[in-house]
Amino acid sequence: MSWPETVKIVEVGARDGLQNESTEVPVAIKIELIERLAAAGLPAVEAGAFVSPKRVPQMAGSTAVFQGLRQRHGTAYPALVPNMKGFEAAIEAGVTDIAVFVSASEGFSQHNIGCSRSESLERLHDVAQVATSQNIRMRGYVSCIAGCPYDGAVAPDEVAAMADALVAMGCYEISLGDTIGVGTAGQIRSVIKRVATDIPREKIAMHFHDTYGQGVANVLASLEEGIAVFDSSVAGLGGCPFAPGASGNVATEDVVYLLRGLGIKTGIDLMAVAKTGDWISRHLGRPNAARAGKALLAAKQEDDLHGG
Ligand code: HMG
Ligand code: MG
Repeated sequence: MSWPETVKIVEVGARDGLQNESTEVPVAIKIELIERLAAAGLPAVEAGAFVSPKRVPQMAGSTAVFQGLRQRHGTAYPALVPNMKGFEAAIEAGVTDIAVFVSASEGFSQHNIGCSRSESLERLHDVAQVATSQNIRMRGYVSCIAGCPYDGAVAPDEVAAMADALVAMGCYEISLGDTIGVGTAGQIRSVIKRVATDIPREKIAMHFHDTYGQGVANVLASLEEGIAVFDSSVAGLGGCPFAPGASGNVATEDVVYLLRGLGIKTGIDLMAVAKTGDWISRHLGRPNAARAGKALLAAKQEDDLHGG
């Protein structure tokens, strides 16, 4: 089996992770989280969302986050943008990388952004045009690639149609999201194979939620399909408020541990991410969902105790 030599991890904990937290997370904590992740070598750290504060209160401070953030040279800090209003707010806050999002299923589109799939593409056309004219880099998400909380099964053709539309709009990369974490390895491979008949594999990223514990297995299956970009979340934070029961993203610590074991380079300091995962979990008062993170920290503590 030939793995990619290097893999890019897009850290989504500060957005996908925190958007689902019920208690307010102070802007200073969000900034510290983002800065620690960037310092740990994550090449892209999603840092906020310019969506309706009524729908997602936790992302309401995104302008303040971007204004207070000390950005590292060479790190990308994308922000989620749903429409022109969000785009304008993002640009005002100093964002230079945006991520637009659509759903492969009709039901999730309606629940998440209040419009149909075709309407969502129409809304994004204006955003895409302005973004291109202002040299703003644009990533695209397709949600519900392996199943929808409202419509059930989703056909790979539906996923490919939305991914194609986002590429045509100018997205440099399409992140295929298993929003509710139901997909298993064979199914994920089929979706990738279908999308890759239209889009080069270098432009495809995978975004797994770990609801059914399939995240790491699905990363491995995707690597075998030649995918080299993965979204993940420190401490496995996350979920989507409009996907009932969906749990956090596959943990960054678990993915980097897998990649390190396979000899794949990421440029990420795994122990620094593990410490950040422990810190943010304590802050949020929730268990750390990163298995590798917890194990590495426990092993280090043991080592330190015995003078190792
Ligand atoms: P809407 O209600 O359909 O739009 O919102 P509207 O145009 O009727 O506006 C209603 C109100 O929202 C108005 O305010 C607008 O001004 C305001 P009001 O007059 O009631 O005071 N509004 C905005 N405010 C701030 N920023 C904006 C904005 N746009 C309108 N950009 C909208 C449409 C999409 C904005 C709304 O439905 C929304 O924000 N939905 C939340 C979407 C979201 O953030 N979901 C979670 C992220 S997606 C995800 O997690 C999946 C992903 O991780 C991949 C995966 O896992 O699959 C990416
Ligand atoms: Mg997600």
